[in-house]
Amino acid sequence: MSDAAATLAARLAGTPTVGVIGLGYVGLPLAVAFAESGATVIGVDLDARRVASVRAGASFVEDISAATLAAVVRTGRIVATDDVAALKDADAIVICVPTPLSKSREPDISFIVAAADGVASVIRPGQLVVLESTTYPGTTQEVLRPRLEARGLRVGEDVFLAFSPERIDPGNTHWTLRDIPKVVGGVTPLCRELAAALYARFAREVVPVSSPETAEMVKLYENTFRSVNIALVNELAIMCRRLGISVWEVIHAASTKPFGFMAFYPGPGLGGHCLPSDPSYLSWKMRLAGYEPRFIAFADEINRQMPTYVVGLVADALNDRGRALRGARILVLGVAYKANVADTRDSPALEIITALAAKGARVEYHDPNVPELTIGDLALRSVAWPADLRAHDVVLILTAHAGYDWATIVRDAPLVVDTRNATAGVPPAAHVIRL
Ligand SMILES: NC(=O)c1ccc[n+]([C@@H]2O[C@H](COP(=O)([O-])OP(=O)(O)OC[C@H]3O[C@@H](n4cnc5c(N)ncnc54)[C@H](O)[C@@H]3O)[C@@H](O)[C@H]2O)c1
Repeated sequence: MSDAAATLAARLAGTPTVGVIGLGYVGLPLAVAFAESGATVIGVDLDARRVASVRAGASFVEDISAATLAAVVRTGRIVATDDVAALKDADAIVICVPTPLSKSREPDISFIVAAADGVASVIRPGQLVVLESTTYPGTTQEVLRPRLEARGLRVGEDVFLAFSPERIDPGNTHWTLRDIPKVVGGVTPLCRELAAALYARFAREVVPVSSPETAEMVKLYENTFRSVNIALVNELAIMCRRLGISVWEVIHAASTKPFGFMAFYPGPGLGGHCLPSDPSYLSWKMRLAGYEPRFIAFADEINRQMPTYVVGLVADALNDRGRALRGARILVLGVAYKANVADTRDSPALEIITALAAKGARVEYHDPNVPELTIGDLALRSVAWPADLRAHDVVLILTAHAGYDWATIVRDAPLVVDTRNATAGVPPAAHVIRL
């Protein structure tokens, strides 16, 4: 082990300084976990509002309470800045920047490139760099490594580089950052060992894999697995409706099989920063390698048609009652992409509301976590709650946030279209249409 590695290993086992680039849904909880493990954290974000929020101890991520953040900020365990130069003294630097798709649905790794350039501008011997952003296999070796080596540093001897995918599930209080095993792939075995030591500070289990490419692929496989299975169950919902069978009853009964089955649930479409985008990172990479992945494309096609399918359900439900979408007053419940979060990125609610409004419906929404919503030219505000449900033609449940009294909603709304089986606990009624 080189002197640089030995010194770093000792620092990581003691009270290291950890830099976190990107203080979002992934970076902020990670920064707090490191801070609570006794590290000093320097958080870097280009977004001045997020930097100011962290400095004020005001959390913008549901999984981190204001009290938790304020406690680590007050004791100086977390400092926030927009200047990457602050990372020159960090022992480890973890990159958690976005990885969206471009308009043509190709990987947009410009945030990773910018963050890597920033790291390269401060890198010095004895530092560990870990990429956490979800990305295609090869990114760590092809994008980060050359930038560090261009500074005359040898990866594996002077500086250390690894990939460790973030696997958190925002809003999930059962499986938290500490409970989810941390997969780590290093450019060299020593890189992996040092990265594993970094995460062992808070993670109950670290799962070492043989390379960064393997770790990158693990994350894409996990999210492709979810996307494909959600597409399968979405199609099952479409098939069940045609046959007059409840898809929810089918899933419930199938779930009693003690082996070889895992329940997935249909819904109005995929949303969030991950599932709608991540599989396309793999497709893109495979196309470059001369292989056209079929499952990913097919799942994407089915999942992406779900918002249109839901609009059709609403139109049919109104039509059966002699009403048109045009002029109908529709109250959407829940616009975040999933329950108990405030994240509306790529939420199917955006497409559904846009389509309903384009057909002349008068759309309002309520979401306890999303006070305002702008979709193109449409600027909406969450209505006061409890709302006058009797005054609406349809209540459309898109996200089953906790806190709604479903029995009252079913009692008062003239027509309910429920895409989440939120009303499962209420006896079936002719005016409640479930996906
Ligand atoms: N959100 C999730 O549930 C989740 C779960 C697992 C993995 N991921 C992956 O983690 C990554 C981050 O996702 P997120 O949801 O936290 O994104 P986010 O948009 O919430 O946060 C990213 C932050 O990075 C900042 N940023 C961008 N470029 C920067 C730069 N060069 N320097 C400093 N800051 C910069 C942005 O201002 C933003 O605050 C993505 O690759 C995503 O796919 C997300």
